[in-house]
Amino acid sequence: MSPKKKSEYAVPKLKDFSTAALDEAVKDLLAAVVREAREVTSESDWKIFRDRWMARANGFLTQVNTLWLKAAPKDAKRDVGQRVNEAKKRVDETIAAALERMQTAASASRLDAERIDVTLPGIRRPLGSEHPVIKTMNEIVAVFRDLGYSVEEGPEIETDYYNFEALNFPPNHPARDTQDTLFIANQESKPLRDRLLLRTHTSPVQIRTMEKMKPPVRVVCPGKVHRNDAPDATHSPIFHQVEGLAVDTNITFCDLKGTLDHAMKALFGSSVKTRFYPSFFPFTEPSADVQISCIFCGGRGYRDGGPCRNCKASGWIELLGCGMVDPNVYGFVDYDPKKVSGFAFGMGVERIAILKYGVDDIQLFFNGDVRFLEQFA
Ligand code: PHE
Repeated sequence: MSPKKKSEYAVPKLKDFSTAALDEAVKDLLAAVVREAREVTSESDWKIFRDRWMARANGFLTQVNTLWLKAAPKDAKRDVGQRVNEAKKRVDETIAAALERMQTAASASRLDAERIDVTLPGIRRPLGSEHPVIKTMNEIVAVFRDLGYSVEEGPEIETDYYNFEALNFPPNHPARDTQDTLFIANQESKPLRDRLLLRTHTSPVQIRTMEKMKPPVRVVCPGKVHRNDAPDATHSPIFHQVEGLAVDTNITFCDLKGTLDHAMKALFGSSVKTRFYPSFFPFTEPSADVQISCIFCGGRGYRDGGPCRNCKASGWIELLGCGMVDPNVYGFVDYDPKKVSGFAFGMGVERIAILKYGVDDIQLFFNGDVRFLEQFA
């Protein structure tokens, strides 16, 4: 019988209140509750079962009260009362035990459902790896770290002062033009030097470093820079640079040449040659562009029976800007140009990665195509 259906048991009316008759009635009652308890298979079954027995209104126990106890003749009441109480206790216990059995079974089946096989292979999450630009940037930094340089960083949102003024850019220098520089909006109410912009190079970190450090200074400053350039195969509005700065007593152009020649050999191989070509930067004097012998044609200018496309048959590839720190710059940071001298350089990380890995489009670095990126893992 399902406990939802009506019980087969009914509390009998007693006519005979003798001990034997009472024993018989209690035996039947307990047998019924035990039988019904055994048939309970869920908590909702159990509630129906409980109510059938315990409901105040017309539960079996209430019926026992009226049909047995209240109906008993006066002289039997004591005995009937005692037996009814005992029987009620047993019924209570049986009902409580049934609930406990339900709950244990439910938690066991929940445990069973949640069982996991720890010997199964796990879900493999593919490990990421360094982005080729970051990897190249770290390689460049490592070359200078081995020479005793430490690393400095600066903000990507800079003031006009650090990005231009303190680097000796005259007020109307074309580099300040909106053609090149991305300015933060609504800065017009501020004095020019406090206006915010996205740094166009890592050179402002030179100034920030010299403001907080006295010579000797040897630092490299890796980081992201921004220019208002339309993206194409060789341009990107966001790219990375590594700046270098060495200031000390008696630093000469020879030190600059030796340092960068070593760095280029460390990055591109010991057979690479360097040459310094006159150039201009407002914050260095004299200034130079560094060229390396073409790593594709070995500096010959031709390859596979034709002119080398990578160096336009010149045998040289222009790679970075450098120079001796302009004495005017020292004036902005309280260094004495009569006592100290130094050099600075700045190189584009993507440009170096493009050459090192033979990448033909700078956009590949920024598109996030895993098929490209995983080649560098
Ligand atoms: N900041 C210059 C640029 O972005 C590069 C440079 C750095 C030149 C340091 C000289 C010295 O083009």
